[in-house]
Amino acid sequence: MSSINSMVCKMDLIDIIHRQAVPIPWSEGEKIPWNDPGFSQRMLFEHLSQEHDAASRRIETINRHIAWIHHSVLSDRPTKILDLGCGPGLYTSRLAKLGHECVGIDFSPASISHARELAQVDKLQCTYLQQDIRAADYGHGYDLAMLVFGEFNTFRRTDARLILEKAHQALAENGRLLLEVHTYIAVQAIGMQPVSWYATESGLFSDRPHICLTENFWDDEQNVATVRYFILDGLTGGVTRHAGCTQAYTNEQYRSLLEECGFGNVIFHTSLSGGIDESHSDHIVIICQKRGAA
Ligand SMILES: C[S@@+](CC[C@H](N)C(=O)[O-])C[C@H]1O[C@@H](n2cnc3c(N)ncnc32)[C@H](O)[C@@H]1O
Repeated sequence: MSSINSMVCKMDLIDIIHRQAVPIPWSEGEKIPWNDPGFSQRMLFEHLSQEHDAASRRIETINRHIAWIHHSVLSDRPTKILDLGCGPGLYTSRLAKLGHECVGIDFSPASISHARELAQVDKLQCTYLQQDIRAADYGHGYDLAMLVFGEFNTFRRTDARLILEKAHQALAENGRLLLEVHTYIAVQAIGMQPVSWYATESGLFSDRPHICLTENFWDDEQNVATVRYFILDGLTGGVTRHAGCTQAYTNEQYRSLLEECGFGNVIFHTSLSGGIDESHSDHIVIICQKRGAA
């Protein structure tokens, strides 16, 4: 497991001018700082917002996903479900209300607190662990393990494989894995976005007045998109750099990776609602079954 995850880099304005023109994939940080307490609190607001589908989808869409998972994937039967990167429990809490026993793992402190509150208020069969899914003990005996909304692609290839192997071990015999991943083209498009910026009194990266400059890159050899964020504090002029990377895979690469990790019956679906859904065109859903020892 790599030790770099969210890597905050403090800089001066001059360092922006002298920055490395093109970053080496994963070298400037892997993810936006989901697990930073302040960031996670601000991100929770975005997860719960019904104005956009940025951190989590709107509830209306999640309800469609839940109906498909419960009915079409799980045949309306109560099961034991593991949700990796569960965020504030928007999927687990709904699945628990339908009779499933759920375990959610996420390293965002604010999201896990919110998920635990939901479970307590509604007396749900949900257990939440605030841990890094690269290192966490997943437990065992699950009928379904899931990792949705493209988060799989934000792990380096070695960590992604590790997560698949851990999920394989955690599943019961014939248990299934549901991955909602980015299409290759969608990741490439992230890397090809033009430079952009915005100024705000308060936002996701800081609750102080700041300017956010964003640069995107596509590495054609490693098939990785990097997004770099420079946060310029409006009061001090100090600069903080964040970076996030997204790994692209072709469908054949997804299939081979899953088979190498011990999964069979690999089936691709167009969306988490089962059918074609234009709002999901950046993602594809893969369901596969535990075959044998990984
Ligand atoms: C795009 S959000 C999706 C949240 C949730 N699955 C949903 O759709 O509502 C990705 C989630 O993955 C979590 N995450 C990212 N990397 C993680 C890691 N290494 N360990 C645990 N959680 C992680 C983030 O904290 C965040 O809650």
